[in-house]
Amino acid sequence: MHNDKTMIIIQLEGRKIRLPEGLTVIEALWDTGHDVKRGVGCLSGLCGACTVAFLEKGGKKVKFGLGCQKVVEEGLNVIMLPYFPSRVARYLLDVMEKPLEHLPEIYPELYTCNDCKACNICPEWINVAGVMKAAKDADYETATEHIMDCIMCGLCASRCPKGIAPQHVALFIQRALAKERLFPPNLQKRLEELESFQFDADLGRLAAMVDDELEAHCRQAEGG
Ligand code: FES
Repeated sequence: MHNDKTMIIIQLEGRKIRLPEGLTVIEALWDTGHDVKRGVGCLSGLCGACTVAFLEKGGKKVKFGLGCQKVVEEGLNVIMLPYFPSRVARYLLDVMEKPLEHLPEIYPELYTCNDCKACNICPEWINVAGVMKAAKDADYETATEHIMDCIMCGLCASRCPKGIAPQHVALFIQRALAKERLFPPNLQKRLEELESFQFDADLGRLAAMVDDELEAHCRQAEGG
């Protein structure tokens, strides 16, 4: 079946198997007859559903990553990780004037963080411990600097001995900051224009165009 491909041997979910090189972990599971549905989402490294733990050939340290991105290689030993439960606080930003002031009551466990750095296993290379430390110190701007890359996979939460779910804490901070910060002036201006229906006539014209017309219009707008 895979005659023209180089075959490699890996350990997948505890079983030694032979398969063609170049597959991702999820493709390797499918290729070997595993009916994987749970833990598979976007297949693009965005949804965070497919966390895996792996040991590379000759490696001493277990690493973590995403099954849809990690490409298998000779001697790899890899398993998919199950969904890890973590506490998600419920809150209503609408009724909070300054949401960040409520962080201590919404995620009190954040303040038990002792900076052990066990959470620094992020497949997106986020310095999670740094984010948590900044959040604990109320330096929210620093805390949010890198968390835009968070894909909510929850690997960090699975390692925290204090039961902190950094991905949920970080999401709250992003939402709270978005509410508390002033919008940049150009965005504010555009929102006001939209609210006063300034673009309705243009949008109506675009909505009425057939595909060819729309394509021509976009090309012209791009100057092409
Ligand atoms: S399936 Fe979505 S990140 Fe892998």
